[in-house]
Amino acid sequence: MRRAFESHLQETQGQVARLEQVFESLGEKARGKHCDGIAGIIDEGKSIMEEDFDETTMDACLIAAGQRAEHYEMAAYGTLVAWAQVMGHTEAATLLQQTLDEEKAADKKLSELAEGGINQAAVDAARQEEEDEEPVGAAHGGRKASAKGGRR
Ligand SMILES: [Fe+2]
Repeated sequence: MRRAFESHLQETQGQVARLEQVFESLGEKARGKHCDGIAGIIDEGKSIMEEDFDETTMDACLIAAGQRAEHYEMAAYGTLVAWAQVMGHTEAATLLQQTLDEEKAADKKLSELAEGGINQAAVDAARQEEEDEEPVGAAHGGRKASAKGGRR
């Protein structure tokens, strides 16, 4: 999972360079702009990291947070590709499509990690924790009580 996040971080740096190419192809100068949407998604991720979850639940939740970011990016790049195409900015459309493909691949990789065992491990850990927390006999309290009653 760490590898997936780190390799996509590297990819993201390439995407910044690609965006500069997009602006260049349009004869514009690239500049940064604050994004409330992604800032909110990052804040959500940060608050998840402050939770007192077991390791596998934390992994499952971090994947979920990462996928929220990927889906936001996919929505943005998908729109940009469509707009670039309709405006006849072929080079920009091709560049933006490359980034969109990377976002989709990153999202798919996270789904594979989650569905390939991390979600199940998180459920198992939660069930184990529940069992550990229940007082002895509480899980079968009903049955035990009636068995006891029958014997006496
Ligand atoms: Fe991404």
